[in-house]
Amino acid sequence: MTSSDASEPGWWDRRVVPWIVEKACRSSEILEERKRWVPRAHGRVLELGIGSGLNLAFYDAARVTRVTGIDPSAALLAKAAIRAADASVPVELVCAPAERLPFAAASFDSALVTYSLCSVDDPQRALAELRRVLVPGGELLLVEHGRAPDAGPRRVQRWLTPLWSRVGGGCQLDRDVPALLEAAGFTTELETAYSRGPRWLSYTFQGVARSPIAG
Ligand SMILES: C[S@@+](CC[C@H](N)C(=O)[O-])C[C@H]1O[C@@H](n2cnc3c(N)ncnc32)[C@H](O)[C@@H]1O
Repeated sequence: MTSSDASEPGWWDRRVVPWIVEKACRSSEILEERKRWVPRAHGRVLELGIGSGLNLAFYDAARVTRVTGIDPSAALLAKAAIRAADASVPVELVCAPAERLPFAAASFDSALVTYSLCSVDDPQRALAELRRVLVPGGELLLVEHGRAPDAGPRRVQRWLTPLWSRVGGGCQLDRDVPALLEAAGFTTELETAYSRGPRWLSYTFQGVARSPIAG
């Protein structure tokens, strides 16, 4: 594992959040989403916020040259390293935040993010960085939760997010995922729906975003 520019987290983020993340991300519903989207990744793949590496089992070895997984949590990357050892594709793990990717421009053919865009501190900067490191026209495969379309759950998202993000590793409940992607220049084909669970947590975006062909 290599390390780049990740700041030292506090006790809660080191000890408790990795446990919560691992638990929360192992639902059967999320498993089905992983099975659906991860095999579409191809070539040199960048996985943003790889966490404990729960996607690694689903990459298609016939399509993928290498997976580079980044995450600022050394504790989660240690779990990912164990899964990487069993993966059918070469895996490189880098301790870095999505906002400061230590990679050259156009060095990835596709990217994957599952339930991590909600947690990055600065999603605009992260998406600008992703756009820089993807080849023109590169695909981002995305499964994410965010801002609900209905007033009731949206109200809960607004008042709960300050507390939720403090205990949940920075997770913001109310990010407008399509707007963020489009502002960063990506074109999107996303399916949206409430999945299982409380409506303030379960409004989900899944699909593909493409970086611009030129520039
Ligand atoms: C809910 S977990 C999802 C993990 C994994 N993608 C999955 O599907 O199991 C959110 C992840 O975002 C990571 N994260 C938080 N801030 C980040 C940042 N600035 N850049 C990249 N990843 C970040 C966390 O460390 C955590 O691994």
